[in-house]
Amino acid sequence: MCGIVGYVGDQSALGVVIEGLRRLEYRGYDSAGVAMLADGKLATAKKAGKLANLEALLEESPMAPATTGIGHTRWATHGAPNDRNAHPHVDCTGTVAVIHNGIIENFAHLRAELESRGHELVSDTDTEAVAHLLEEATRGGEVGLADAMRAVCHRLEGAFTLVATHADFPDAVVGARRNSPLVVGRGQGENFLASDVAAFIAHTRDAVELGQDQVVEVRRDGVTVTDFDGNPGEVREYHVDWDLSAAEKGGYDFFMLKEIDEQPQAVADTMLGRLDDDNRLVLDEMRLSDDDLREIDKIIVIACGTSFHAGLVAKYAIEHWTRIPCEVELASEFRYRDPVLTRSTLIVAISQSGETMDTLMALRHAREQKAKVLAICNTNGSTMPRESDAVLYTHAGPEVAVASTKGYLTQIVACYLVGLYLAQVRGTKYGDEIAKVVADLRAMPAKMQRVLDDLEPVRELARDLAGATSVLFLGRHVGYPTALEGALKLKELAYMHAEGFAAGELKHGPIALIEEGVPVITAVPSPRGRSILHDKMVSNLQEVRARGARTIVIAEDGDTTVEPYADVVIRIPQSPTLLQPLLSTIPLQVFACEMAKARGHDVDQPRNLAKSVTVE
Ligand code: AGP
Ligand code: GLU
Repeated sequence: MCGIVGYVGDQSALGVVIEGLRRLEYRGYDSAGVAMLADGKLATAKKAGKLANLEALLEESPMAPATTGIGHTRWATHGAPNDRNAHPHVDCTGTVAVIHNGIIENFAHLRAELESRGHELVSDTDTEAVAHLLEEATRGGEVGLADAMRAVCHRLEGAFTLVATHADFPDAVVGARRNSPLVVGRGQGENFLASDVAAFIAHTRDAVELGQDQVVEVRRDGVTVTDFDGNPGEVREYHVDWDLSAAEKGGYDFFMLKEIDEQPQAVADTMLGRLDDDNRLVLDEMRLSDDDLREIDKIIVIACGTSFHAGLVAKYAIEHWTRIPCEVELASEFRYRDPVLTRSTLIVAISQSGETMDTLMALRHAREQKAKVLAICNTNGSTMPRESDAVLYTHAGPEVAVASTKGYLTQIVACYLVGLYLAQVRGTKYGDEIAKVVADLRAMPAKMQRVLDDLEPVRELARDLAGATSVLFLGRHVGYPTALEGALKLKELAYMHAEGFAAGELKHGPIALIEEGVPVITAVPSPRGRSILHDKMVSNLQEVRARGARTIVIAEDGDTTVEPYADVVIRIPQSPTLLQPLLSTIPLQVFACEMAKARGHDVDQPRNLAKSVTVE
């Protein structure tokens, strides 16, 4: 979950590395550090806190100009987030520097072994052991850095992306990966290594995706990839079509605000190319045959956090359209309960990043049990799509804010597409029924835009409630995951007590939390169609209001029945209940964002969190 950048070329390595780290800071911001090679000498600079702290340090004590260098932003797993534990870590002789993403699980053993041979380790990290192992393996420069890296990787257990540089080999940077991300950027007379292409797309769009257990040596004039034994490694070359401005804030104060506004486009893009002129679905890239899909007798969705909430929405849609039983499970719980999986189970792993370790481990467990795995991911080149039988990419573009917004709504759309596709292949819905839902889906981006255009009342509400100590969210049916998501957003951004409940469950306990003035936010389903849900929700509103709650109700245009029970009504366009989360989630995202601003928090990088959680 850290950000890694490496560079070899003719530009200022420090400039390239710092610029790359800025684009990767969303991956972690406990500390930042660089190591540069100049005049055959290695120099490092590192500082706890955000990148700005490192930049201030570099301003005070500039480094010698260098054309080879590496840099890191950290999300601490081993050792406090302080200067001493910041990466890069160096060996006893100060000739090799290493940065790391992941966890070396056998580090305590390696550390003891190194200390018994006289090495002095100065940090509390798992990473530092690698610097000393590389010191031994390079034998004072007799063995090349790539060979040494290969030897060291055999000694490591756990998950790692490692990138190292060595004073005796000033024209190369060497990387290795197992279960953590690393991509190569190919330039003209310069090459890059990074956790994510955002770090180098200002310089090149030609990327190379590394496989598991590979070592890469990046030089000015080329890139060599091998496995851990030195055999040539297979790689996939690709062209990045995200443009640089997409990876930058585009004039907004926060990435999150920009990403909220991008949602209509992101949802439209996610449907792009997946519907033919007759509104029939074509999911070419699925890689699972229609016969495979016809054999499925159970679906289990696995995901974490916000992606888990997308899974909860998916359950309602998939079961309704396909009649296949669908369970949704937190990825971190899944493999530890010995789930019942067969060849006819379809696992749907949902992950914006495609790197979340809990989800990845659950996915691997499912594959070991021979279940089929479909990944719904936003990040091309990430680990999950590579390790799945099939993939459906959400086309949200880079999501930089730690709090997921466009990632979430596009995941919901991808789940709808999977549900409808299964219904089409298995014939559980007539073609015209599917075409009707698809037409409703196609209308959603314009409706989402209408929600976005009318959010001032939500912003006002947030400013008004900025001093609240607790906010409760209620919902039924797909409104329940929406309530959970509203509460999660508020927790992670505004650092306040927030909880989402199934509205019917309230009377079984949580209603005791209601007291005078407690804000309760609900999304009310459409009064059209199956109005029973709507009416039950209105009863729940009356229950909390009678006990003093301040009710904030998200309701469809024209639904006047909620007005007597609402202190504030937030209007959204009419839509089928199953699709309503695409609209009702937006005010909740903006509410959380505005609350965080009003309380003076960093919206894009909330405390204690990281964008990609690559540890279990
Ligand atoms: C979202 O706002 C959260 N920061 C978090 O819950 C996130 O959704 C979760 O960590 C899963 O990430 P993924 O989708 O990249 O797997
Ligand atoms: N385990 C390493 C540390 O705690 C790397 C963490 C990371 O991925 O940033 O420093």
